[in-house]
Amino acid sequence: MKILESAPHRYDAGINMLSLGRIDRLKKEIAENYISPGDNVLDIGCGTGTLAILCAERRASVIGFDISPQMLNIAQRKIEERHLGEKIELREMGATQMDSAFEDERFDKVVSTLVFSELYSDEQKYVLRQTFRILKPGGLLIIADEVKPNSLLKRSLHLVVRIPLAVITYVFTQTTTRELREIERAITDAGFRMIFTKRSLLGSLGLFVAKKAER
Ligand SMILES: C[S@@+](CC[C@H](N)C(=O)[O-])C[C@H]1O[C@@H](n2cnc3c(N)ncnc32)[C@H](O)[C@@H]1O
Repeated sequence: MKILESAPHRYDAGINMLSLGRIDRLKKEIAENYISPGDNVLDIGCGTGTLAILCAERRASVIGFDISPQMLNIAQRKIEERHLGEKIELREMGATQMDSAFEDERFDKVVSTLVFSELYSDEQKYVLRQTFRILKPGGLLIIADEVKPNSLLKRSLHLVVRIPLAVITYVFTQTTTRELREIERAITDAGFRMIFTKRSLLGSLGLFVAKKAER
């Protein structure tokens, strides 16, 4: 974590460089297309706070949590620089503590980028069930993450992108990632209806938007 502490800007720059700018563009797309003024938003694994900040700039109230205090320190600094302290609350906690952390139907939107790929399958299912519980009826779950490309050609080309991405993620967060498989089924198994999916970066980066039914 010394690298992070001495040069905290590197995580954002590194991830963005390795995804050829797609990660930043996806976060902007999420905020612009799905976040409305007054929304209560939860950012699962908020990391350095980029998406939480974009949501707050759209006048949403955001809670971002992350298991890494180093990532949260960077997020806190960025939030203070932008004077968004009143709109964003950061919490240091693990995703598997969600059952005791948030009450039922607390949020309008739950967002999470590049985090599900760091969770085990059982953890993903738990987080999806909890997300369903804490979303209001009609609320949205928005996930963007690494996925396995569909075609063999895309899978081969994707390795060129994935290997350095995995290395930088490990260097900066001390965690490993694996591409999401069958995330759409896990999302619908948790009770959601998929309303939008798209893939970019040789089919290796997926955006998944799912809705909890209105009452
Ligand atoms: C690749 S970073 C993504 C950060 C941010 N969401 C983004 O898109 O830039 C993954 C983040 O997930 C966090 N994380 C991993 N496992 C977690 C868990 N079980 N609970 C909470 N956060 C977790 C890591 O600490 C890290 O900040």
